[in-house]
Amino acid sequence: MEAKEVMQVTVFGCGYVGLVSGACFADIGHVVQCVDIDAGKVDQLRRGIIPFHEPGLERMLANPDLSFSTIPHIADICIIAVGTPQGQMGAADLSQIFEAAAQIFALEKPPKVIVIKSTVPPGTARKIQVKTGIETISNPEFLRQGSAVADFMQPDRLIIGADTARGFALMEQLYAPLNLPAAQIVETSPTSSELTKYAANVFLTTKLAFVNELALYCETVGADIDEVTKGIGLDPRIGAQFLQAGPGIGGSCFPKDIRALAYQSRENDHPLAIVQAVIKSNDQHQDAMLKKIINICDGDISGQIITIFGATFKANTDDLRNSAASVIIPALQQLGAKIIVVDPMAAEDGKGIFTNVDWQDDPYDAASQAAAVVVLTEWDLFKSLDLEKLAQHMKTPRLVDLRNIYHAEKARKAGFLYDSIGRQ
Ligand code: UGA
Repeated sequence: MEAKEVMQVTVFGCGYVGLVSGACFADIGHVVQCVDIDAGKVDQLRRGIIPFHEPGLERMLANPDLSFSTIPHIADICIIAVGTPQGQMGAADLSQIFEAAAQIFALEKPPKVIVIKSTVPPGTARKIQVKTGIETISNPEFLRQGSAVADFMQPDRLIIGADTARGFALMEQLYAPLNLPAAQIVETSPTSSELTKYAANVFLTTKLAFVNELALYCETVGADIDEVTKGIGLDPRIGAQFLQAGPGIGGSCFPKDIRALAYQSRENDHPLAIVQAVIKSNDQHQDAMLKKIINICDGDISGQIITIFGATFKANTDDLRNSAASVIIPALQQLGAKIIVVDPMAAEDGKGIFTNVDWQDDPYDAASQAAAVVVLTEWDLFKSLDLEKLAQHMKTPRLVDLRNIYHAEKARKAGFLYDSIGRQ
């Protein structure tokens, strides 16, 4: 890495990636301006209010070297971190990327480089470079919600996709304060770097879809998925992480990115068969989860109360995007069920997203009228419940644990008719 030198950085987009990256770049010593077209959001950020939950981020906003605006300044490096939402047919919608590039092009003085942190299809950086005449580098982000600040500060790798030695040197200068060992820095072409981001997310999605399929197969043959994943996870070629069976793959990234890669591969006349199969597998898995809930209620949930434990797509986030709840709740309602939800963080946003849902705080009270309790998110709040007390609160104690957070035998001993994923 090069000598540490303060750089002027402008980040376009104050969403998840932009805000975390901008705050972290300021924290490691650069002067950072975060820009967003949403004046309301900029105003809130200036007052230290973050629009989502991310541990460790709030204290970083107090940095005098971090500012927020709707109008971009000139800078050494302009980082594009705007959204690339799912567009038609699953394609990545790049309109915000091109708008940010146009704003950079209109600056009085061009930056030394443009850096694209957003997830974009291979070839996008080169297109932006042609449009703006400014060297454009791909530097995808691998932050996970809930641990994003730590992921930024101690990344397991840094992918830099550039075409020139000058571009690589500028990026090394930007990240120099992190003191990363050379082995963790992967220098590639912009196109390889862009595809690396999709490859990482889709590989992980594939791993999870396989585990989820295998879990249901375990039920068929009388095996236990937690024992099987422990067995395969000790093989370092497979790895122990990301093997937890669940109610289906969610979040703002995996479902969008796998559809985008499927779309891109079709457009390039080279459809990726595994990618298509994983999308289908996850859809089927979510259908199977719904059936588990109906089955435990003897095939009829019409007019019954179902209490959902957890609406976010995973624990320790307030994000509801593509969560299991966002699929399962409307499906249960369509079949006539009444829904109560307990979630330590989702109620505020959830009230605007779900209709006819009763949000409650106390899991025991919320279970008392229910025909069944269904665990969709692995919050600590639910892991630490007293199962006997929970069962006593219910007339017909039924528990569908779609995160395998409880010990099956203990749940049954507590009095529950109990179902989980991939276990007997
Ligand atoms: C994911 C990637 O993990 C990050 O590396 C990437 O930077 C990010 O997308 C992105 O592209 O921005 P995130 O969406 O925060 O991060 O969520 P994950 O922690 O990866 O979880 C994704 C889904 O997989 C969730 O629904 C989660 O419940 C599920 N999951 C995860 C399981 O069902 N089992 C597991 O063992 C792990």
